[in-house]
Amino acid sequence: MLTQDELKTQVGQAALHYVVPGDIVGVGTGSTVNKFIDALASMKGQIKGAVSSSVASTERLLALGIPVFDANAVGEISVYIDGADEIDGRGYMIKGGGAALTREKIVAAQSRRFVCIADESKLVTVLGKFPLPVEVIPMATQRLIRQFAALGGTAQVRMKGAAPLVTDNGQHILDVTGLQIKEPLAFESEVNQWPGVVTVGVFAHQRAQVCLLGTAGGVKTLTY
Ligand code: A5P
Repeated sequence: MLTQDELKTQVGQAALHYVVPGDIVGVGTGSTVNKFIDALASMKGQIKGAVSSSVASTERLLALGIPVFDANAVGEISVYIDGADEIDGRGYMIKGGGAALTREKIVAAQSRRFVCIADESKLVTVLGKFPLPVEVIPMATQRLIRQFAALGGTAQVRMKGAAPLVTDNGQHILDVTGLQIKEPLAFESEVNQWPGVVTVGVFAHQRAQVCLLGTAGGVKTLTY
């Protein structure tokens, strides 16, 4: 029986097959992506470098000698590799457990193909069991908590110790429980236009085209 950590290692390595030699690769954030970054070091001579979705991933890439480019300095990226907190049968995801959702969505939007790497615990039928992360402008926090309550959700400010967690963009995160997101495209569009929302952690407009799912029987490739 493989551990969750071993499943993450498997999919991190499997993702190397999707990296286009000679190109710049989009790199997400999280413990599964960390496995991918470690594996990517083995082919660093074959790629130009990476565009990163967080300070944490940038630091890991640079430590392994992989050049990191500013998103504005490059055009379309051939492939974006990232994890997910939940993924459904259509490639729609909840992301942001690592608080990097805004930059993740930016790099995903700049990429032709999103390859999600996840262990099988992340596969769901309906999104929403994992608390939905939403990056918000702090001034709007209390009104947004009330707006989520009107949808049946309970939103809480994510804390780091005694103070609210501050994202790489200087904002806060709300984690929303109690939602069943049956129409991810419509939900993402609606919440995104609430004043004060920077990014909602539903990735439906930026869904995955491929999911490499780590299972006890090996890596399964799901395509959408
Ligand atoms: C980071 O903000 C997230 O979107 C991650 O992609 C997600 O939380 C998955 O992380 P793990 O690979 O650590 O489970």
